[in-house]
Amino acid sequence: MKEKIISLLSKLTNIPEIEISNSLEVPPSQELGDYAFPCFSLAKSMKKNPVQIAQDLAKKIKSSEFERVEAKGSYLNFFLNSKTLAEKSLTEILNKKEKYGSSNQGAGKTIAIDMSSPNIAKPFGIGHLRSTIIGNSIAEISKFNGFKAIKINYLGDWGTQFGKLITGYKHFGNNEKLKKEPIKHLLEIYIKVNKDESLEEEARQGFRKLEQGDKEAMKLWKEFKSLSLKEFNKLYKLLDIKFDVISGESLYNDKMDAVVEELENKGLLQESEGAKIIDLNKYNLGACLIKKSDGATLYATRDITAAIDRYNTFKFHKLLYEVGAEQKLHFKQFFKVLELMEYNWAKDCIHVDHGLYLDKDGKKFATRKGKTIFMEDIFSETKELAKKEVENREKLPTKELEKRASTIALAAIFYGDLKNYRSNDMIFDIENFVSFEGNTGPYLLYSYARAKSILRKAKYKPRPIKITALSPAEKQLISKLAKFPEIVSHAYTQLAPNLIANYAHELSQMFNEFYHSEKVIGSENEQFKLSLVEAFSIVLKNSLALLGISVLEKM
Ligand code: ARG
Repeated sequence: MKEKIISLLSKLTNIPEIEISNSLEVPPSQELGDYAFPCFSLAKSMKKNPVQIAQDLAKKIKSSEFERVEAKGSYLNFFLNSKTLAEKSLTEILNKKEKYGSSNQGAGKTIAIDMSSPNIAKPFGIGHLRSTIIGNSIAEISKFNGFKAIKINYLGDWGTQFGKLITGYKHFGNNEKLKKEPIKHLLEIYIKVNKDESLEEEARQGFRKLEQGDKEAMKLWKEFKSLSLKEFNKLYKLLDIKFDVISGESLYNDKMDAVVEELENKGLLQESEGAKIIDLNKYNLGACLIKKSDGATLYATRDITAAIDRYNTFKFHKLLYEVGAEQKLHFKQFFKVLELMEYNWAKDCIHVDHGLYLDKDGKKFATRKGKTIFMEDIFSETKELAKKEVENREKLPTKELEKRASTIALAAIFYGDLKNYRSNDMIFDIENFVSFEGNTGPYLLYSYARAKSILRKAKYKPRPIKITALSPAEKQLISKLAKFPEIVSHAYTQLAPNLIANYAHELSQMFNEFYHSEKVIGSENEQFKLSLVEAFSIVLKNSLALLGISVLEKM
């Protein structure tokens, strides 16, 4: 409908559609119509005052699709014909099904997303969980907008900490423990080496050996890496997340020399106390360290190299880094370096930051009673809570109970995160997330299952839609359903999955209002009402899919 208004106005005024589209507004209240067009911008080119322009245009527009078109001051207000609109929207949703809301805006261009990216030999942190959940959603939203999304897991598998681990393992390692609980054992070792100052020099040498490809060092490193990956993969399976590319910092070990040389040739490198740095003080970004005095490379050196390599490989339209806000300076620094290297795509690299998870007391949620929190424990806890909720309602065979509890637990965690604007800190409160009532994932799953159960009960079969009358609850629900494509598009431009999450919640509330206020099965307009229920279930499922959440047909 928006498109229709845009093309109509464009024809009447001879103004390009894109300009009309930019100024077309959704009025703050329904009394001012469904869309409003401000005529100020036309005054100059049409040499008339805007009030007059609005009045002239109102007279010219006659379409059965509008209830009326009204000039109010300098605005032209469009009131859509709710029955025509409802028939159109519902038919479109029921026809397009899982494609409803998608567009070809991206025209197949590539969005590469650096996401998840945990550090091997360390526990998968909650920051990595946020990155995984948000990164995944942004990738899905990009695809739905017609882009090609590439999910890249950039493992933290290189750097001085591996010198420490190799040294630590030689002193404190235990092969049995390593095989049994690799991450816990490696963490233990890491803490021990860090406490022992006498091992500092040996650890430094350890990383140097690794960077030079020393056999023994490489062998240990490879083992740490494969054991860690095995653990991470269990988690990804649980989360039902797949990557298109598994990469990592180590991949760039043999490509960094060329980049350091390039930096040198472009006159960007400076010596400082034996180290090589790029002075970014002019930009208020301090110094970007490229090589330590002992020749070791750094996080930034690898990120610069990786970005160049990714551009050569993917020719991306955008390269997104879904990483915690605490790394802001790091991203600003190396984006600036890429710009100074005169890569014009540097402007297409974006740090899509996220805030912290806090515990209920508002403190950083990283440890519990001083102990590291393990992701597996969080999941099993959430699943247990979900199980209790399900058992309170219904007696189920074990297999079905397990399946439902897992789906609900994931919905709880994903939605609990994604309903918040990503840059904000948020309280990670599992009990609240798992509740079947309120603004939660399970509430949305429950609304979906309710819609499906109505359709099953009524033995619903799709038929062409005919609308005789519309109640206020129906009107509200349909107009919300019709807004989905616009929300999908905004969620992409703002890189904000919370827009989809909040939409899904509001939509479900409207559905539940409708369902409580009206009889559906056995009503006079049963067929129409059922098609509305079906349309709701489609749009909610599509919204949840964009958040990485799967639905349950029964709950
Ligand atoms: N492994 C890093 C960490 O845990 C995150 C990596 C983010 N991606 C990047 N290209 N720097 O802090």
